[in-house]
Amino acid sequence: MSSAGEIRILTTPQELFASAAEELVRLANQAVEARGRFTIALSGGSTPKSLFNLLATNAKSALPWDRMFFFWGDERHVAPTDPDSNYRMANEAMLSKVPVPAGNVFRVEAENPDAAAAAEAYEQTLRKFFQVGADAVPKFDLILLGMGPDGHTASLFPGTAGLGEKSHLVIANWVEKLQTHRLSFTLPLINAARCVAFLVSGTDKAPALKAVLESVASGEQYPSKLVQPKDGKLIWFLDRAAASGLSS
Ligand code: 6PG
Repeated sequence: MSSAGEIRILTTPQELFASAAEELVRLANQAVEARGRFTIALSGGSTPKSLFNLLATNAKSALPWDRMFFFWGDERHVAPTDPDSNYRMANEAMLSKVPVPAGNVFRVEAENPDAAAAAEAYEQTLRKFFQVGADAVPKFDLILLGMGPDGHTASLFPGTAGLGEKSHLVIANWVEKLQTHRLSFTLPLINAARCVAFLVSGTDKAPALKAVLESVASGEQYPSKLVQPKDGKLIWFLDRAAASGLSS
């Protein structure tokens, strides 16, 4: 397995999501057996919605929902009722349809007009839940990530200050091209996870994916390159369209 991690190329988006759902079910049950709980951070955007639908239907009976604890790897600076809210998407596609206790769902309070305060509050939520002090970094069982056509992941966009964050777990990252802050996990938190899984579908992602997996371009240009779990597993779930630019 290269430093890029394990690359799984599936023919269609449906097969991609079925394969990711299978892996998630395996990891969830393994974590509950080993540690009594499964901690997962969800990605946002449009890609994971099909996975969430699958987990709430076909895979519903195979998951230990009462032992699963949900967080978000990033969130838009909007209220939970906003159409752009990652929480709203996951709640509508999955969480409102499965027997997960409300106390197991930890959304980012992104309605707070003070983005920095919202980030700090979420960091404290993480530290309290994982019972870690100021110098320690919590270890998620699984962090789901997507990748934008520009190579960004979570809300760590090319050339943004958040890429250099070394001490905080969560930041309010100013994204000039979107003229907004985004609340995002930082690289130290992402790279501390037991498993990180990228879901990448569609031809529009092919050029950036090639740059991330096969070029010498910097992580500053393609932040997804900076996702290198320290002692965890990295899996890329790709469909053939997204992988169409890869040489191997
Ligand atoms: C977000 C995400 C972001 C997303 C990519 C891909 O809040 O937008 O977390 O990192 O994963 O932008 O988005 P799509 O899945 O919509 O292509």
